[in-house]
Amino acid sequence: MIDVLVSQRRSEAEDICSFELTAVDGSALPPFEPGAHIDVHLPNGLIRQYSLCPGADQLGRYLIAVLLEPASRGGSAAVHRLQVGDRLRIGAPRNHFPLQGDAQRSLLLAGGIGITPLLAMAEHLAARGADFVLHYGARSAGRMAFANRLRQEALAAQVHLHLDDGAPEQKLVLDQALGPVTPGTHIYVCGPGGFMDWVLDGARQAGWPEEQLHREYFAAPVRSQDAEDGAFQIQIGHGGAIHTVPTGRNVIEVLNEHGIEIPVSCEQGVCGTCVTRVLEGQPDHRDSYLTERERSANDCFTPCCSRARSPLLVLDL
Ligand code: FES
Repeated sequence: MIDVLVSQRRSEAEDICSFELTAVDGSALPPFEPGAHIDVHLPNGLIRQYSLCPGADQLGRYLIAVLLEPASRGGSAAVHRLQVGDRLRIGAPRNHFPLQGDAQRSLLLAGGIGITPLLAMAEHLAARGADFVLHYGARSAGRMAFANRLRQEALAAQVHLHLDDGAPEQKLVLDQALGPVTPGTHIYVCGPGGFMDWVLDGARQAGWPEEQLHREYFAAPVRSQDAEDGAFQIQIGHGGAIHTVPTGRNVIEVLNEHGIEIPVSCEQGVCGTCVTRVLEGQPDHRDSYLTERERSANDCFTPCCSRARSPLLVLDL
């Protein structure tokens, strides 16, 4: 854990503020790779994950940008209440969304606030003269964060900006943006759930293999109304104690009650902190963290939000 101060706060677009974080003791914060995020421990007790933007790291500081979500569970509203001088605790950077070192070409697709990790990637790739293109879509010009940085000479030729309320000819056409399936090209997507599903489903339908698709969700997708929350049982290792997870409670709560603690952070299936091995049974995956391949392997799940399709899950605990 690192103690930091909010050293700058700036409006980047409508409902989007950036916050510069500086170590309380004045030391340089640890370096990070593009795509990395930090856990931010908010004054209201919530822990939220925010991608690190480039721009302050040369000074040993971090920059995060946060959209004030109307349907926020309290995270983004608490961040937007922060003022210069406020003190916070953050975790060290972690990266579940790294650039692939062997990529010959990178296609970056950002929707809304999803620009934050992709801006870091774009600046990194541009500095290395790498082959990449960034498509950034926003609802309107006023909601487009970091537009000035994206129009800078170093990036402008690789960046395509798309506005939902703009002329038809500038709209993002997915087939054209993705182009033909090409080995060595990797696709990176970040943004609202609907945007990400649109891009990822479109890429899959076009034949892009899962290994070339990379994504980072900011929040858990809204669950369909008919998702079932029925009771199931968990067993602590083969032959271990069996506990029931009733409707309305999650695996983490039941385990805690029996003295088994699993570290958690986002508690909504986004960060991967709680991933636990499954020895037997079929999880009902409700996270946004695991890849399709990891889900179908059925050998791990996120107990903070996922449940079971089989009557019993045997956990490697
Ligand atoms: S705590 Fe974040 S995925 Fe479970």
